[in-house]
Amino acid sequence: MKIVIAIIQPHKLEAVKKELYKVEVNLITVSPVLGHGKQKGVNEVYRGVKEVGNFLRKVRLEIAVNDNFVEPTIKAIVKGAKTGKIGDGKIFVYPLERCIRIRTEEEGSAAIG
Ligand SMILES: Nc1ncnc2c1ncn2[C@@H]1O[C@H](COP(=O)(O)OP(=O)(O)OP(=O)(O)O)[C@@H](O)[C@H]1O
Ligand SMILES: [Mg+2]
Repeated sequence: MKIVIAIIQPHKLEAVKKELYKVEVNLITVSPVLGHGKQKGVNEVYRGVKEVGNFLRKVRLEIAVNDNFVEPTIKAIVKGAKTGKIGDGKIFVYPLERCIRIRTEEEGSAAIG
């Protein structure tokens, strides 16, 4: 199991969500975050609103998946979020040790999707 964390532009959230649904990734956590990449928020203002200093508004996705879903998830995020311009975002993949569905107490692969 892996957890895919993606930082994307807020206006790309709907497009990314649609692409994720197409590959049957339906369970997702979304948070508003502030951040900047290597331009330090300076030249990156396309629909970006500077919030605090040079930090820009971004959206953070957390998606826990079985291993065979990692590549489809990455492809879906890229398809939905990419403009080819600076600030499109980044994807991080972490190993995930455990996942427990509280309602049923299922664990692992059975709990994740
Ligand atoms: N190495 C990193 N560690 C933590 N967060 C990061 C990292 N790189 C990017 N981010 C987060 O992702 C957001 C988008 O990053 P961004 O796409 O600007 O990356 P970049 O490396 O500057 O690439 P680009 O040159 O395409 O803009 C940042 O605002 C920040 O929140
Ligand atoms: Mg950048």
